[in-house]
Amino acid sequence: MSMPLPMLTLALLSTTARADTGGLYVLHCASCHGMRGRGDGWQAPSLQVQPPDFSRPDFWTRVRYDDLKRAIREGGASVGLSAEMPAFGGELTDEQIDRIVEYLRTFERTPGEVVDPDDDYGCG
Ligand code: HEC
Repeated sequence: MSMPLPMLTLALLSTTARADTGGLYVLHCASCHGMRGRGDGWQAPSLQVQPPDFSRPDFWTRVRYDDLKRAIREGGASVGLSAEMPAFGGELTDEQIDRIVEYLRTFERTPGEVVDPDDDYGCG
């Protein structure tokens, strides 16, 4: 490997940041929002309000990133949603929240894409 050390370090750091974001999602969010963001985590059946399906393209056309970030930072009630959506401002930095929102967007499927409802990597 002939990459100069600073570049190698940067490459490794950005890979780690991406992996971390997925890890943060699994740790803090997947229990309600599901491994693939479809709102079908194991806690979802016991919630009063069902989490949204982040894989739906129409979800992304009606929301604003600022509102999503605020919901994550200050909780659902801060943007008029259910207070069952907890506030994470105490645990996650603004930068981590920015990255999580980018991560949520990766769940969006293209219109017409066929998704196997059982494909949850074995852990919904
Ligand atoms: C205890 C269950 C629970 C956990 C844990 C949870 N959420 Fe939620 N979340 C919800 C519910 C329920 C809603 C829907 C609220 C509503 O529509 O009134 C929601 C809504 C949201 C919304 C707003 C969606 C919209 O319609 O605008 C975002 C964004 C979000 N969650 C992200 C996250 C992220 C990121 C995490 C982890 C850091 C997380 N949630 C953890 C239950 C949860």
